[in-house]
Amino acid sequence: MISVNEETKVPTIKNEETSTLLELIDVKKYFPIKAGLLQKQVGNVKAVDGLTLKIKKGETIGIVGESGCGKSTAGRTIIRLYEPTEGKIIFKGTDISHLSENNLRKTVRKDIQMIFQDPFATLNPRKTLRSIIKEPLNTHNLYSKKDRDEKVKELLDTVGLNSSFINRYPHEFSGGQRQRIGIARALALKPELIIADEAVSALDVSIQAQIINLMQDLQSEFGLTYIFISHDLSVVRHISDRVAVMYLGKMMELAPKTDLYTEPLHPYTQALLSAVPTPRSRNGVKRERIVLKGELPSPSNPPTGCVFHTRCPAATEICKQVIPQFKEVNKEHFVACHLYE
Ligand SMILES: Nc1ncnc2c1ncn2[C@@H]1O[C@H](COP(=O)(O)OP(=O)(O)O)[C@@H](O)[C@H]1O
Ligand SMILES: [Mg+2]
Repeated sequence: MISVNEETKVPTIKNEETSTLLELIDVKKYFPIKAGLLQKQVGNVKAVDGLTLKIKKGETIGIVGESGCGKSTAGRTIIRLYEPTEGKIIFKGTDISHLSENNLRKTVRKDIQMIFQDPFATLNPRKTLRSIIKEPLNTHNLYSKKDRDEKVKELLDTVGLNSSFINRYPHEFSGGQRQRIGIARALALKPELIIADEAVSALDVSIQAQIINLMQDLQSEFGLTYIFISHDLSVVRHISDRVAVMYLGKMMELAPKTDLYTEPLHPYTQALLSAVPTPRSRNGVKRERIVLKGELPSPSNPPTGCVFHTRCPAATEICKQVIPQFKEVNKEHFVACHLYE
């Protein structure tokens, strides 16, 4: 059923499954490669090449994969920093794929927030916490001017920072504290979806755990939905309900966390997991390290058939020629691999 949202005049697809917050339908993001004096387009970097995924309200989806496989581009496309080249992004029943900046400001720019690896890079060093956290409130004209300071103190408190820090500068804080500042700023507009892109990757393991615990507390307090992006599978494990594995812009495997970590099906997932140092396993069996041969191929010229076949220890002839379908092989466990066809 299609209706029109009166405020934005954007067609709204009424979702029967009201629990779905975000749906990606074959989303692609290509960056044009230009060359020569006339800057003619000579090709595409296929950074994201067909993501299909439904995310339920309140759940945490982990997205993992080697550096360069398109995770950040996926995040930036979902939040509509990029316009998708193809496919649809449906957020709360509305197709936001090609919304104008003006319409994005009314909904998406409030409801979806992103936190990045290095909040210091995105925090203006000459601004105090007060103005950094207040900025989104000013932009969206939320609360009265005089209530905004109170709100900033409340947000600092929410993320476990002393509200007396309000007049200090970001450089006065440790990495973990700065990530808390980034989270406070992301929370200011009461978002529904937060995309954390390598948000804890630069932190020490003990600090990582603190930030992840904080994010979990905030999730239950505010009913947040998370997309948690990381190249580090051990980071994603703790926080995720389901995990998606990406390779060269495509989803290779998707499963509930426990299934993915105990019974990875895709040879790529198996290789990634074999590289994760595990605490001494209970039955004494150590997972054998699978070393992937070769480099990640260029996303401007991806391999034919299964994009992973050039590095896959199990590849056969069909893998070079036929693109494997993304299929559900166990309950809620999807994999794109000819081994399971
Ligand atoms: N703005 C851009 N213009 C051109 N190519 C890009 C751009 N952003 C990313 N890429 C390319 O897209 C691919 C995926 O990058 P990215 O999404 O950053 O991967 P990840 O976050 O998984 O490391 C890489 O080959 C990268 O070089
Ligand atoms: Mg990235």
